Amino acid sequence: MTSMDSIGGAQPQGTGESSVYSLKAPLRVDLQTLESKKDPFSFFAGLRAAGPVIPLKMPFVGSVWATTTYDATAAMLKNNSLFVQEGRHAGKSGVAGLSWWMPHAIKILSNNMLLKDEPDHRRLRKLVDQAFHRRLVRNMRGEIEALADRILDETEGRDEIDLVEAYARRFPLEVICWLLGLPEENRGKFAEWASHMTSALRGFAVLRMVFTMPGVVRYVREQINVCRRSPREGLITELLQAEEDGDKLSEDELLSMVFLLLFAGFETTTHLITDSVIALEQNPEQKEYLFADPAARMERALEELGRYMTPVQSTKPRYVAEDCEFFGQELHRGENIVGFLAAANYDPAVFEEPDKLKLDRLPNPHLVFGTGIHFCLGMQLARVEAQSAIMRLYGRYPNLELAAPDDLPWIKRFGLRGVFSLPLRLNGGGLRQAG
Ligand code: HEM
Repeated sequence: MTSMDSIGGAQPQGTGESSVYSLKAPLRVDLQTLESKKDPFSFFAGLRAAGPVIPLKMPFVGSVWATTTYDATAAMLKNNSLFVQEGRHAGKSGVAGLSWWMPHAIKILSNNMLLKDEPDHRRLRKLVDQAFHRRLVRNMRGEIEALADRILDETEGRDEIDLVEAYARRFPLEVICWLLGLPEENRGKFAEWASHMTSALRGFAVLRMVFTMPGVVRYVREQINVCRRSPREGLITELLQAEEDGDKLSEDELLSMVFLLLFAGFETTTHLITDSVIALEQNPEQKEYLFADPAARMERALEELGRYMTPVQSTKPRYVAEDCEFFGQELHRGENIVGFLAAANYDPAVFEEPDKLKLDRLPNPHLVFGTGIHFCLGMQLARVEAQSAIMRLYGRYPNLELAAPDDLPWIKRFGLRGVFSLPLRLNGGGLRQAG
């Protein structure tokens, strides 16, 4: 069933040009289909045809409003007094749903800035922004490329690898460990834990995560204490020292910050890397264009790879703080709303031929990293990571190719676009030489 068929079954209330819907009768759309991952352009075009703001039922969250155009998505994210994170600002308790890149047990650590409104959000973000950027400006690209090379060294001599397992999951984790300044000897263990926690999708994996979590929390607390006693290079020490107008992070705030960085920056980056390789392999002319002059073209190309694949398809839900009319819909205080970043990034009103990969696209005002006060803190890091990951991979294996191009195992989970595995033939049959 296509998204259009399913939307066709819904009955808007009222008549006239702009249909007024109600959250009580959400449109019947299955948000977790393989089709929506294989061809997100048609899927989101189908949603957009139903209006800029539509009612849906989302897994785990329930009934929500969703924005389907660029303008509605950007307007929602930029209006942080009307669309809020904390239930108490909308007559509710708790926070408006958890991000799909965060497993359930992260609730324990949910005292983080992504779930806060102003002024608490501003306070936390200022403290971490300062430390984060101080840490990153120091030869970030050199360190990150060296980490990519180290992981790729282990693939030497192999004909075929699973890119996800061998590279795209390990690399962002190594970067986060480096960023936090975790001792080299514990990194393997930490990576294993983090991997358990973030791959927890269902069944046994969830159980494993629940049991893993307390150990990781204990480990991070220990590291905070070690850094407090004897400061060493890394973000944990920087965050301990971060001070703004006499204000500091408490230990629990620091702990949740470390977990936020881990969960927000790990799986997202994994998918950006694998998605980019898929897009390049499916568009050989564009790949040719990029590698004819990678040094000059990679920056702009990465923005388009991000837009075209949009690995984080939706923001986390917000609450509507007041009854209002928004893009033709009547929204009520306490209802949930999400921004469909993928729908915004494929909106033909802003992007010409949105379903075409054009690595020289300019301007490219995509919303891959969100917008408004909660826009991605790790945006620059993620960009450098993905650019470096692609450059180093293709630099070493210029003739690589997908081993099973017609059988991509898309993850059906709503909100993220990525694959469970990506078998690559490292020395495939292509003739191109490394650029
Ligand atoms: C390709 C990689 C990434 C993508 C696509 C991405 C995307 C996003 C998006 C869309 C948001 C906004 C969510 C919302 O408004 O509901 C966000 C927020 C955030 N991201 Fe990322 N992200 C990536 C990598 C990273 C990395 C590497 C880090 C840090 C290590 C990071 C840290 C954060 C944090 C802390 C927030 C919350 C900011 C706030 O509430 O002020 N992200 N990210």
